[in-house]
Amino acid sequence: MARTMSEQIRVLVVEDEGPVRALLHDYLQSRGFEIHGAASGEEALVLLSGEDFDLVLSDVRMPGINGMDLLSEIRRRHSGVGVVMLTGCEDVSQAVNAMKTGALDYILKPFRLENVEASVRRALEKHGESRRQACYLRDLEKTIEERSVALRDTLRSLKEASEETLEALVAALDAREHQTLAHSKRVSEYTVHLAEIMDVSSGAMEAMRKGAMLHDVGKIGISDTILLKPGNLTVEEWVEMRRHPEIGHWILNSVESLKSASEIALAHHERFDGQGYPRNLKGEEIPLGARIFAVADSLDAITSDRPYRQGRFYEEARWEIIRNSGTQFDSRVVDSFLRVSPEVWDHIRRATLEAWSAERAN
Ligand SMILES: [Fe+2]
Repeated sequence: MARTMSEQIRVLVVEDEGPVRALLHDYLQSRGFEIHGAASGEEALVLLSGEDFDLVLSDVRMPGINGMDLLSEIRRRHSGVGVVMLTGCEDVSQAVNAMKTGALDYILKPFRLENVEASVRRALEKHGESRRQACYLRDLEKTIEERSVALRDTLRSLKEASEETLEALVAALDAREHQTLAHSKRVSEYTVHLAEIMDVSSGAMEAMRKGAMLHDVGKIGISDTILLKPGNLTVEEWVEMRRHPEIGHWILNSVESLKSASEIALAHHERFDGQGYPRNLKGEEIPLGARIFAVADSLDAITSDRPYRQGRFYEEARWEIIRNSGTQFDSRVVDSFLRVSPEVWDHIRRATLEAWSAERAN
């Protein structure tokens, strides 16, 4: 049941001793709160299931459902309600346990009424902040999920994904993570060149080009806080970040003409030695397009100016790729890469950039 902000803060006082309950009731009511009382944990649960409360102020020692059990139950069934525990001086360890179980604060008995008010206000403030954060995160997850779903739906509505559509997809990523479009274009050209050398059929080559172009499209489903975080990611953030190949696959495989490309998006972080993600594929289990892409991606990562790797050149890329041949990369792809001169790679890089600049000027 929704309440407006102007309504009073509702506090449920759970206390089996009638005089103490009445004292708390009258005092907190005089301080502007709307107070309801319950003489037991059981009664409190009945009230909580039918009405909205902002805070429960509960005694620990009560017959039947005691305060600690009530706290656990509220955490489980009514996570939007904050709890402050009232506990006897001899029960300090209970107070510590209550805090560990999720109580916002505890008040030692015998208490001074003004301390009760201060504790209730502090708890409400703390609780309000964590509720706001939880709402923000829920909204954020919803928006990101909606964004992926909207993208998939749009793609599905198109019978054939045109070149403009593919570019629009990558441009959407570029708006968030700068350089994505330029990187995707260069990588797809490098991939096509390697595929030509490896005698890949023209149909498969086209799928590889699209897959390389759209490899990171799943990042649309990753929140800005993670995608654009300047420092190191936490373990949890890495787990989230590593979902992007699967999200990309999910978005792309809804379109018939992008099914092969979706396999490359799914496998673009796999490693030849099986140490990649998300499926730990090994060797030829990894689609050839993704194995070729891995070398192309590494070449571009090292030779293009990225904020964290200024001015590393072709020689460095060459040695890095040789060093990781057979582990990160398929050595057959590496051999093909080494057959191409630095001048040719540089020519492809410049031609891609020029074509793109001309396109943008028109
Ligand atoms: Fe990626």
